[in-house]
Amino acid sequence: MRAGVRASTMRASPMAIRPMASATTPKKATAAAAMQQQPPTEMFDQPFFPDEPYGPIVRTSIPGPESKKAIAHLDKVFDTRSLNMMANYTKSLGNYIADLDGNVLLDVYAQIASIPVGYSNPSLLLASTSPAMASAMINRPALGNFPQHDWAEILETGVLRVAPPGMNQVFTAQAGSDANELAYKAAFMWKRSQERGGADVPFTEEEMSSSMNNALPGSPHMSIMSFATGFHGRLFGSLSTTRSKPIHKLDIPAFDWPQAPFPALKYPLEQHIEENKAEEQRCLDEAERVMTTYHNPVAGIVIEPVQSEGGDNHASPAFFRGLREITKKHNILMIVDEVQTGVGATGKFWAHEHWNLQHPPDMVTFSKKAQTAGYYFGNDELRPNKPYRQFNTWMGDPARAILFRAIIDEIERLDLVRNTAETGAYLFSGLENLAQRFPGEVLNLRGKGQGTFIAWDSPRRDEVLKKAKGVGINIGGSGERAVRLRPMLIFQKKHADIFLEGMEKVFSS
Ligand SMILES: Cc1ncc(COP(=O)(O)O)c(C=O)c1O
Repeated sequence: MRAGVRASTMRASPMAIRPMASATTPKKATAAAAMQQQPPTEMFDQPFFPDEPYGPIVRTSIPGPESKKAIAHLDKVFDTRSLNMMANYTKSLGNYIADLDGNVLLDVYAQIASIPVGYSNPSLLLASTSPAMASAMINRPALGNFPQHDWAEILETGVLRVAPPGMNQVFTAQAGSDANELAYKAAFMWKRSQERGGADVPFTEEEMSSSMNNALPGSPHMSIMSFATGFHGRLFGSLSTTRSKPIHKLDIPAFDWPQAPFPALKYPLEQHIEENKAEEQRCLDEAERVMTTYHNPVAGIVIEPVQSEGGDNHASPAFFRGLREITKKHNILMIVDEVQTGVGATGKFWAHEHWNLQHPPDMVTFSKKAQTAGYYFGNDELRPNKPYRQFNTWMGDPARAILFRAIIDEIERLDLVRNTAETGAYLFSGLENLAQRFPGEVLNLRGKGQGTFIAWDSPRRDEVLKKAKGVGINIGGSGERAVRLRPMLIFQKKHADIFLEGMEKVFSS
């Protein structure tokens, strides 16, 4: 259905990005037309950003002298120890990130997978300088108490226009960790309401008074089950479900919540079919055992479609379908964390759409490329039985929701999810070729059929990332040894070629 808007607008506005007024055409209106008129894929050969540099420009080592000065200045007032690169965003355009020394790098990391449609995108500039945006910025509403008059319309024409199948409501949030924690809270309230006998059964005096002491029965011993090597954020609740690296968790008190193993698949997949199937079954069996036996009963599970921060770990659609069946069987909620996978990068708008689930997940969380955050759901029972149980001052941000709407418009106008699927296939085959030529450099290449959500393991990962900057490419890592690609949705074949040439230089060095 989403292709509908894309198909018609592609024809009207050929190739190059031009700022467009917000095209909030309801998707149903053009869906049928789109089915019949898929635009030719050659459209993706036209530049989305005609003014982008032809390729990376590397003038100095990185950081160069100007960047070093700026970093030293910043370090006096702000911790720079996690700094990757000092950037100049006013000079960054499309797929290219600029620094302070005249270096311009092809960016396949994109602010930790968070820039969807290019730096300095003119359509987003237009949306962010509109009177509606200005009002949202300077008159920020406390949405739970004083929602603005057009909040429903902003949601319906934006965030909810791309709601995953089976979902028609959203609880908006500030960031990915926040979205996950809100989803966990919704899961606990739902579970307790069920145990209590329904939403109309009042809380007991004992529940109310014990909750003030963080004690039973008001503060119940329940849990959210997550998966080994998963990442769901760094606030207290989300951090308890994060299992990627000790450095994230050390010294922080954690909830007594369980984890299950995530499949460790062997690559290439075609050569390890039976082994991988057995590994996924082992993990499903263990997940079911944990879900049904953990001493703090499991209200919900949380899982990423591709474990991202934890090293780009994939599992098959069959694994996720199996998990969904188990959660249904035991009346446990399934929360799919699409904070990193969502908004097109896997070649579908939501990565879990690759799974063909019989029953949609109960909640889907999002942030990053959406530039806003929250969780989607479809079951009315996931709304707590009383107001103020799920509440905070802002409860989201109309300015960011307007921006997400403009991003969606741009994705549809340029058919960027399909572009990502096609560019991803091209990029993957280029990487397969490199893997054959440099078998010691590209191990466990993964992400086939998953758009540009591609990664491989590297025995000298950090060196590769550093050397890539020297050939004009900004790449990120994940886990202990993965090189992860997270280009924007405007990444095209010509960018893939530049990337592949650059990597060849790095591998040969
Ligand atoms: C899958 C996933 N969930 C949650 C988060 C946390 O999001 P945030 O950093 O916006 O709190 C991240 C961040 O990388 C993520 O990748």
